[in-house]
Amino acid sequence: MCGIVAYIGKKPAQPLLIEGLKRLEYRGYDSAGLAILNGGLNVCRAVGRVANLEDKLEQTGGLQGTVGLAHTRWATHGGVTEMNAHPHRDDKSGICLVHNGIIENYSVLKTYLQEKGHVFTSETDTEVLAMLIGELYEGDLEKAVQAALREVTGAYAIAVICEKEPDVLVCARKGSPLLVGIGSGEYVVASDASAIVAHTTQAMPLDDYNVVRITREGFRSSDIHDVEVSPKVMQLELDLEQIELGRFEHYMQKEIYEQPTALRNCFRGRIAMEEGKVVLGGLSAYAKELVRAGRVILTGQGTALHAAMIGEYMLEDLAKIPACAEYASEFRYRNPIIEDGTVVIAVSQSGETADTLAALEEAKDRGALSLGVVNVVGSTISRQTDAGVYLRVGPEIGVASTKAFVGQVAVLSLITLFMARRRVMSADQCARWLEQLQTIPDKVERVLEQSDRIKKVTERYCDRENWLFLGRGYNYPTALEGALKLKEISYIHAEGMPAAEMKHGPIALINEGMPAVFIANKGRQYDKVMSNIAEVRARGGHVIAVATEGDEEIKRHVEEVLYVPEIIEPLSPMLTVIPLQLMAYHAAVIRGHDVDKPRNLAKSVTVE
Ligand code: F6R
Repeated sequence: MCGIVAYIGKKPAQPLLIEGLKRLEYRGYDSAGLAILNGGLNVCRAVGRVANLEDKLEQTGGLQGTVGLAHTRWATHGGVTEMNAHPHRDDKSGICLVHNGIIENYSVLKTYLQEKGHVFTSETDTEVLAMLIGELYEGDLEKAVQAALREVTGAYAIAVICEKEPDVLVCARKGSPLLVGIGSGEYVVASDASAIVAHTTQAMPLDDYNVVRITREGFRSSDIHDVEVSPKVMQLELDLEQIELGRFEHYMQKEIYEQPTALRNCFRGRIAMEEGKVVLGGLSAYAKELVRAGRVILTGQGTALHAAMIGEYMLEDLAKIPACAEYASEFRYRNPIIEDGTVVIAVSQSGETADTLAALEEAKDRGALSLGVVNVVGSTISRQTDAGVYLRVGPEIGVASTKAFVGQVAVLSLITLFMARRRVMSADQCARWLEQLQTIPDKVERVLEQSDRIKKVTERYCDRENWLFLGRGYNYPTALEGALKLKEISYIHAEGMPAAEMKHGPIALINEGMPAVFIANKGRQYDKVMSNIAEVRARGGHVIAVATEGDEEIKRHVEEVLYVPEIIEPLSPMLTVIPLQLMAYHAAVIRGHDVDKPRNLAKSVTVE
């Protein structure tokens, strides 16, 4: 999704802004630009990578100045062109702005501004906002921004500068994340902490309707009605090393390999083996409500929803609580019934997904207790939930989510045991689960050791354009996740579904040599999965099975086997997903795709 970096201080702004944009590249974008104040306003924009923008700056001698803003654009309104790239400006007032989000009433505002004589050069909603601020400008940038934002509907994170106030930077947010990094005599504003940590670890996340006016001497925080808002400064728990590639070729690869450590960090201090219980500081104040909960709704999008689906199975199976997992985008608009005792769990890596946030708000408005299962500390969802449990898997830069998925499943299993132990599970039973849970990081390591073999299997099939991913029970969501991973980075068409569903239509797709990945580990429905495998092979499909170590028999019934260590079934998705992540990764590399910058995708989807 679009990225913002802005700077005011004493250093040359251009290199700092470019470095910030590079840190935001992982979020997905199609054009980039920056503007720097130096006597006048200088703007440079380019289609494609930040490297193109750098080339262009170099050819024109670069931009001097110590106040500026920069942007990576992911097209929504208007095609991928230089004219549509940010920053956008209003020449009359000398106002210049970068924007993440969507101005929903831009069309009405555009007509109004055209009647006032403004001439637009782009198709974007952002240029409308720049012109509107310009139209309302009467010598005070902060006031003009506040006035303009009172007129707009939609979502925005913006940074604004003005030729006539060369020592001022104004930023604001509604529905799209923005942080002000606070240094000494300098400020770095960014949509993501990764563009800030090289300069400072003190930051102020903006709340909705927050407007901040920044000079080199300090800042003032208010709302769009100019009521002062007391700033909440936090420490960024992110160091530079965590967001560098190190010895890896891609962030996705790095994050796949980080999973054992990520899981150890996730479990650290949360498993009290002797007492047979789970310690979750973030939930302790709500333990009573959770024990009495009548129903749990888990919500999220994409990979996070797949993790939520596993949470649904675990909560019903182990904690004996009615549970359901739902797309946040559907939940938010379907007039849901929230009874007394309903708990909603928002699952999200970024903590910024627009639909998940809206579903959470809908559930809260209807009286649900809200919990967050979130990775990014201080993110909007983590701040808007009543309580929560962080994943602690470290920053996830790769667009295709990997370690966040296992982290989400791990945290949901901890929450399940936290509730189960207080409702239906004895200390001994819980201790046995916890023992199993603690073995997972080492077992993930064992699966990762098979990467070369997984690559060989992938090589054999990755020229096929249609794949099926099939599983049952706890590994039905794993099948969905395997299909999602393959399609998003290798652009191979893949469908995931419950293995039994195949017979109800999709079986018609199976032809000679079509790859079908079955999650066929030992579990309650193993025999049923084997029957489904036979049905696929009878129609010429080639089966790649993810099976349990020691299951030699399965080799006689499938084309390829990828083994995972034995584990109690509800926890198995944390292992069975690993070969699927590696297959997707290898397939994308073999097919020559940029794994960390998949086409059309954004890391964090902060618009509907
Ligand atoms: C897939 C992927 C997406 C996200 C989804 C939710 O690899 O990354 O499907 O899982 O956009 O994002 P978060 O977890 O940030 O809410």
